[in-house]
Amino acid sequence: MADILVVEDKESFGSMLKASLEDAGISVKLAKEGKQALRFFKKEKFEIGIIDLRLPDIDGIDLLRELRKSDTDTKFLIMTAFGTIERAVEAMKLGAYDFLTKPFDVEQLIALIQRILEEQRRYYENILLRDETSKIYGAPEIIGKGPAIKHVAQLLQKAAPTDTTVMIMGESGTGKELFARACHMLSSRKDNPFVAINCAAIPHQLLENELFGSEKGAFTGAVTKKMGKFELANKGTIFLDEVGDLDLDLQAKLLRVLQERSFERLGGTYVINIDVRIIAATNRDLMNLVKEKKFREDLYYRLSVFPIRIPPLRERKEDIRLLVDHILKKLRSDKSVSSRAIEKLKRYDWPGNIRELENTMERANIIAKKIIQPEDILLPERKVPLNKEELPKTLRAAASAGREIAEVEVIKKTLEKTRNNKSEAARRIGVSYKTLLNRIKKYRKKGLL
Ligand SMILES: Nc1ncnc2c1ncn2[C@@H]1O[C@H](COP(=O)(O)OP(=O)(O)OP(=O)(O)O)[C@@H](O)[C@H]1O
Ligand SMILES: [Mg+2]
Repeated sequence: MADILVVEDKESFGSMLKASLEDAGISVKLAKEGKQALRFFKKEKFEIGIIDLRLPDIDGIDLLRELRKSDTDTKFLIMTAFGTIERAVEAMKLGAYDFLTKPFDVEQLIALIQRILEEQRRYYENILLRDETSKIYGAPEIIGKGPAIKHVAQLLQKAAPTDTTVMIMGESGTGKELFARACHMLSSRKDNPFVAINCAAIPHQLLENELFGSEKGAFTGAVTKKMGKFELANKGTIFLDEVGDLDLDLQAKLLRVLQERSFERLGGTYVINIDVRIIAATNRDLMNLVKEKKFREDLYYRLSVFPIRIPPLRERKEDIRLLVDHILKKLRSDKSVSSRAIEKLKRYDWPGNIRELENTMERANIIAKKIIQPEDILLPERKVPLNKEELPKTLRAAASAGREIAEVEVIKKTLEKTRNNKSEAARRIGVSYKTLLNRIKKYRKKGLL
């Protein structure tokens, strides 16, 4: 998605605008006449439309009226020549956001655009804290705008205030712990403890002690009484992370806690009653573990009263832009991201999900100058050069995609070998210097190099 569509018939002015905005990291598409603008709008969404009032085919006002009919999210800015203020006012009545009288200062336009974009994005941010829950403080920010993540947020908001056991499923780095914390903070238990325990990180022999605690002398080395996580979480929430890694013995004990809300410390002689809300998480396919008899079926059903599946980042690439802004804000970065860089991020599949995106942006933020560019974004080499979503449709397209991938590899390797000496590299791969430069430019643009 481009950020902005500029509708301007004067080619030199249009390209000047496009170049200046793109220098500021804003992606721009240019339409030279009204009909073309309508076609573009039909095909894709723009956050801002900048319309020149005087166009060769359609009057700017009529164009605005037409566009506003189908699109209420886009903000429109009107460019007018001196002396046509009345028409600008007319445009404002039709819902234009603002108008600019030519000649105007491009820097000012950039500032205005950035303000609008930020406003738009803030609207989407923190999907949890909208509507009635906006009163609740302290819940972590969960960012997203796509239907997939919004659906998850809605489910979570429904489950949170109840005492239901919630099971959060998702690949590593998708935000399972974040959602678990949000669930706690959106419940009436929020002022009591949230205790997290990673069942995969603690050796089995020690895990029981960690969960349930022990009496003095329960085993060699138990010199004092130890409270377990369940006791520590009393009146609050316990988060059992990677619950699929519990061994069968502890699964049985956990089942009992779930059924009876009570347990005994190791070596203990009396029963401890607790009032704890349980949230479990796993990145494994629990049903499969059940089939393999590695996970108790009864426990599975007890835990999966309210299952929530967090989709992997590659299934919601529309969230990448917002997440990137959010991550940079958390890093206190004053850098912006070019739209080509965003496109590169969107082409990648993110096996490590949002955590991997965070790490990538942290690196990029260090490397980049003022604007984060594709070359500042370091991604592991693609093992599979084409992913399923972007598989070419025809054999001819497949052949050309294949050729591009091969060329990129050859160029990369040769540049490495020649330590970036381009004329030597060109000689070695048998093309002219100019051809090599063009190829590099082309593949950089596509984010392949
Ligand atoms: N929707 C989101 N909005 C903002 N930040 C997010 C979002 N989802 C995840 N994060 C951030 O991504 C990082 C990873 O999230 P988290 O630790 O909750 O994932 P996880 O699923 O528990 O990962 P793992 O399986 O590796 O333990 C955290 O820094 C978290 O704040
Ligand atoms: Mg986690």
